[in-house]
Amino acid sequence: MQALANKRIILGLTGGIACYKSAEFLRRAQDMGAEFDVVMTQGAQQFITPITFGALSGRQVHTDLWDNSSSDNMAHIHLSREADAIVIAPASTHFIARLANGLADDLLSTLCVARGHCPLIIAPAMNKEMWANPATQRNIAQLRADGVHIIGPGAGDQACGEIGDGRMLEPLQLLAELIAFFQPKSLTGKRVLITAGPTSEPIDPIRTITNRSSGKMGYAIAQAAFNAGAEVQLVSGPVKLDAPYGVTRQSVESARDMHRAVMDLAPTADVFISVAAVADWYVVNASNQKLKKDQSQQAPKLEFAPNPDILASVASMPIAQRPYCVGFAAETEKLIEHAHAKRLRKGVPLLVGNLAQDAMNADNTQLMIFDEAGHNQWPVQSKTEAAQQLIMHIAQQLDPK
Ligand code: CTP
Repeated sequence: MQALANKRIILGLTGGIACYKSAEFLRRAQDMGAEFDVVMTQGAQQFITPITFGALSGRQVHTDLWDNSSSDNMAHIHLSREADAIVIAPASTHFIARLANGLADDLLSTLCVARGHCPLIIAPAMNKEMWANPATQRNIAQLRADGVHIIGPGAGDQACGEIGDGRMLEPLQLLAELIAFFQPKSLTGKRVLITAGPTSEPIDPIRTITNRSSGKMGYAIAQAAFNAGAEVQLVSGPVKLDAPYGVTRQSVESARDMHRAVMDLAPTADVFISVAAVADWYVVNASNQKLKKDQSQQAPKLEFAPNPDILASVASMPIAQRPYCVGFAAETEKLIEHAHAKRLRKGVPLLVGNLAQDAMNADNTQLMIFDEAGHNQWPVQSKTEAAQQLIMHIAQQLDPK
């Protein structure tokens, strides 16, 4: 199922150059299943026209409190009654001040005051001095206290040429925040450490030994853990993926680098999910210089030594420091037999198995869950959905209700 399926969102735009980003945000959120009603203030219409949002949303854009096209002139009431959330993006300094004071002098502000239980999410967008201004900060603190969900702002180059805090989040960041908003916060207050991707074992400065892991499953799990409210550290081998939104990523190459990074972070983690496809061996006689073909054309002789087992190392930490450990097993045959044995060998309470030939590089997967009670097969689903289900399952193990 799409992450925003059946979600009805009111997108409110106020005056700011960041209005152009909201058009892209709306499109990407529609791709995830969301439906939009758009409300624009007069200020917003100075930057972008209602025609743009009418065409994108497929519905008439609302701009006027006194518009009599709705039968009873009550758009400010009806719209939020049917919505799952109101998202104000961009939220200008002035609009934030109006919201914080409960003013209701145009359609969008009136709609916000009349929203009842409909959640309100705002994405501030302004110059860095306007953001830093004590009045703005006071208004933001008031909105937080009133239960308004504030996303961003980000920092960086501003349209005015200055650099600092106040930029509206980018469209895909807004989208990630919206998806996360709707997820149950089953891991709030928990620190989750995850490994993902392949490792890469050097032969010389040019050549390495690696494997076909794409990192997609581990990255989807990291995103799902963030969405569930966790603080997430991702230790990643070399992959072609952007860091999941809201997640701290540390990039490593070899299994020994990954082991060091994990052992540093594990004592403060509540959960460790070992998704990485870690190389079992490293090249002991790796060369500092590029290996050259010699005259006799003999192939170089590589010597191997075993890599540390990262998961087993964490699982055997003293109990007071040890996080709840989850292992993975990608097998090409005899999944059930190998996975049960692997769970016991690694000393972990939960192991997630799948068939390597189905899972490698794919967007869908079928997970099988192994614990002391036995095993349980989940349906074929996208890695995003499987990650969400796994995070919910782990949260239940931590806090059985
Ligand atoms: N793992 C690890 N460190 C290693 C090897 C594996 O942390 N050096 C972790 C993986 O991240 C995974 C689990 O152990 O969670 C199982 O990995 P897998 O490669 O399937 O198992 P191996 O222990 O390497 O056993 P085998 O190669 O015989 O299947």
